[in-house]
Amino acid sequence: MEPELEEILAEVRAARGAVVALTGAGISAESGIPTFRGEEGIWVVGSRHHVPQEMATRAMFDARPDEVWRWYLHRFGVCGAAAPNAGHRALVALERALGERFTLVTQNIDGLHRRAGSRRVLAIHGDAAWARCAAECGVGRLPQPEMGPRDRATPFTEADRRRLTCPRCGGWLRPHVLWFDECYDEENYGMDSALRAAAAADLLLVVGTSGETNLPAQIGRIAAGRGAALVDVNPEENPFAALARRSARGFAVRGRAAERLPEIAAALAR
Ligand code: APR
Repeated sequence: MEPELEEILAEVRAARGAVVALTGAGISAESGIPTFRGEEGIWVVGSRHHVPQEMATRAMFDARPDEVWRWYLHRFGVCGAAAPNAGHRALVALERALGERFTLVTQNIDGLHRRAGSRRVLAIHGDAAWARCAAECGVGRLPQPEMGPRDRATPFTEADRRRLTCPRCGGWLRPHVLWFDECYDEENYGMDSALRAAAAADLLLVVGTSGETNLPAQIGRIAAGRGAALVDVNPEENPFAALARRSARGFAVRGRAAERLPEIAAALAR
């Protein structure tokens, strides 16, 4: 391990401070789930009929709920077929070692952190495991209905519509994910909890995100502004790597999550 990185991690370990891991699509890339903005990215490749940035909106859901569901059911299927990798498992080991001193903030809806065994998780963009009433009728969070295997061409049927009906009010269920034209909140996405964790962090460990979204950027600014150590793990340049290099206790690790996280977690837990 790079001596500078080792020193930062040893300091955090000795101080018994709080650690916040902030993950993005990059940590699941090695599980075979495409990232959003990479060459094969979900937002880049697109669906047959729509630009995905338009698809992942409340406006599109209101206009074409069946099309939006069809697209999500395909994505959820890809997530469900994937398995956690060594990067996810390293964060489980870190949580077990640090207990309440550890918080995982993830942008991923794929559920792989949870399935790997992480429990202290704030899923700030939602979680494919859940659905909720699109009219917020008060039914709460419901398990995502089992819909069978799908590809992009699988048609949306009447039976699908019935399965995706709110049992309380009879309206549409919606995926439990944050859309581009919606705002973060505490109730659904744990926004305040994530900001609190960032403010209390002694180390912010950022993994596999391009830093394009609002709340993660804010988390980075808060943690760095309070003097937290900042380690970024990403094979490519990104705003968190730049922030890490600018900060007194920062290090940008150029590498893949599954490869670098096990040694980083071990150094923090030792
Ligand atoms: N290990 C670590 N990082 C990786 C790996 C890997 N094996 N492979 C790719 N990456 C990095 C890429 O270099 C890139 O910086 O992961 C990042 C993925 O970036 P995005 O595709 O933009 O994904 P993410 O940052 O999670 O997107 C944030 O944007 O569209 C919304 O809601 C969506 O949650 C998503 C959010």
